[in-house]
Amino acid sequence: MCGIVGAVAERNVTAILLEGLKRLEYRGYDSAGVAVFTNAGKLERMRRPGKVAELEQALLGEPLVGRLGIAHTRWATHGAPCERNAHPHFSGDLAVVHNGIIENHEVLREQLKGLGYVFTSDTDTEVIAHLLNHKLKDHSDLTTALKATVKELHGAYGLAVISASQPDRVVAARSGSPLVIGLGLGENFLASDQLALRQVTDRFMYLEEGDIADIRRESVSIWDVDGNPVEREAVQYRDGAEAADKGEFRHFMLKEIHEQPSVVQRTLEGRLSQNQVLVNAFGPQAAELFAKVRNVQIVACGTSYHAGMVARYWLEELAGIPCQVEVASEFRYRKVVVQPDTLFVTISQSGETADTLAALRNAKELGFLASLAICNVSISSLVRESDLTLLTQAGREIGVASTKAFTTQLVGLLLLTLSLGQVRGTLAAGVEATLVEELRRLPTRLGEALAMDSTVEKVAELFADKNHTLFLGRGAQYPVAMEGSLKLKEISYIHAEAYPAGELKHGPLALVDDDMPVVTVAPNNELLEKLKSNLQEVRARGGQLIVFADEKAGMVNGEGTHVINMPHIHDTLSPILYTIPLQLLSYYVAVLKGTDVDQPRNLAKSVTVE
Ligand code: F6R
Repeated sequence: MCGIVGAVAERNVTAILLEGLKRLEYRGYDSAGVAVFTNAGKLERMRRPGKVAELEQALLGEPLVGRLGIAHTRWATHGAPCERNAHPHFSGDLAVVHNGIIENHEVLREQLKGLGYVFTSDTDTEVIAHLLNHKLKDHSDLTTALKATVKELHGAYGLAVISASQPDRVVAARSGSPLVIGLGLGENFLASDQLALRQVTDRFMYLEEGDIADIRRESVSIWDVDGNPVEREAVQYRDGAEAADKGEFRHFMLKEIHEQPSVVQRTLEGRLSQNQVLVNAFGPQAAELFAKVRNVQIVACGTSYHAGMVARYWLEELAGIPCQVEVASEFRYRKVVVQPDTLFVTISQSGETADTLAALRNAKELGFLASLAICNVSISSLVRESDLTLLTQAGREIGVASTKAFTTQLVGLLLLTLSLGQVRGTLAAGVEATLVEELRRLPTRLGEALAMDSTVEKVAELFADKNHTLFLGRGAQYPVAMEGSLKLKEISYIHAEAYPAGELKHGPLALVDDDMPVVTVAPNNELLEKLKSNLQEVRARGGQLIVFADEKAGMVNGEGTHVINMPHIHDTLSPILYTIPLQLLSYYVAVLKGTDVDQPRNLAKSVTVE
């Protein structure tokens, strides 16, 4: 989603800004722009729809050279993705870039028009630029004017501003959209994600909710939400800039799919004893809190929501704990009745998803026992604002379609299930030891599933000319089918829907004909025979079946039935294993379709707006 980079230095900042934007590209965007206070003493900008490379090309023709600048990648919310709507937005001698959404922009726009301001874009951001310009008439200092401006904004924002009349500073404000200051020697930077600045510094200062910052070459000043001057801790990363390198793979997504055995291994490391899960993996007070838990409420979005749906089967079946799962955008606006002693669990790769964060903030007012985040980013808002945390160790995920984040979330959720069952004494005898052993073997099993890569690549050809697909699963494989269908639609743009296989005859069967491939995951469990009957219903209507089946499930190839054998695995862990071929299938279908696999259209990696 939108990205911000800013710099104030003694050297030309344009290349730094462009490199920062490139590092944020994986988040998804549809236009890019840069504004620089040039060495000629003028505020100038260049904006382009499309990729950062197009902006860079344009800058080769008309270079902007200066020591102060801000830049942005925009993911369109208000107004089409075109040059006129791309950031930075200007008002007088001000330039503004903005992540987030200003909800009262229409009212403000009318007021500002009444004051004589002329709008040149359809964006909510331009409102901020004009409002700040207006505030500067009463408050000549840029930071003071910004403080007065944000008081009138409703919604979410990460903001960076420069002014031609105060060209020694970048000023910034954060509320609901992350911002980090990069600290250099005689130069300082700003970005919406530290990754954008790793080429220039390894020291960072994170702004907190409501902070306003004044960033100059030699100093940084910050005020909190009440206007008090504050110090924010500077953190240093020694791990070197995380290289965004596809290695031997054609796309980041394929690389990330193949990383799953190693990242699952990393997610397990230090969290298992001989035959138990180490409960303190969730934090020092986890055991005490878990002992009190009588219900679990899981909230997440997209792929992370599907992980939560799998966890519901585990928590109820293994730990005997009632569990509810809901998408964050619904939960946050629903009148929720909280059962006593309910643990509130959020799941998120990025830890910055606006709806999930808002749901967590709401939950704090609702009387939950405690909050727990399963998250892949240690410095994220979600982690900082939760009582307990389990960090997945997926490493940076660049492909917009989530893969390794999902399987590591599932591992984290199984660790949570076993921990809750252990502490509350609700796990059946020997179950924890068996599953710990199975978890240890999981990376090897995942490696075996990945070895099916070329088989799945061939199967993908069946989808090349199709427009619709159904995914079926039963039990904990139903959310796996949902995840498989989400992956396919995200990157191949083929319409895909998932159903619990038993629901087929209640409506969707009407869609089935020989143009509708039906993908099914069939581990060898007590639902297998029921699933086989559901598949007969499809075949009888001429539907093409693609079945990923346990090698012991006794399913065989036949006319219109393509069976791909999967290594045998303990049923509890089967959702993790069966995810792999569905990821590969989507990937290869997308490659055949020639889509932009790592940055599919209209999507963003981290959804920081509502
Ligand atoms: C799908 C995908 C999205 C995310 C969702 C939540 O491949 O990546 O559905 O899962 O936007 O994001 P996080 O997990 O960062 O909260």
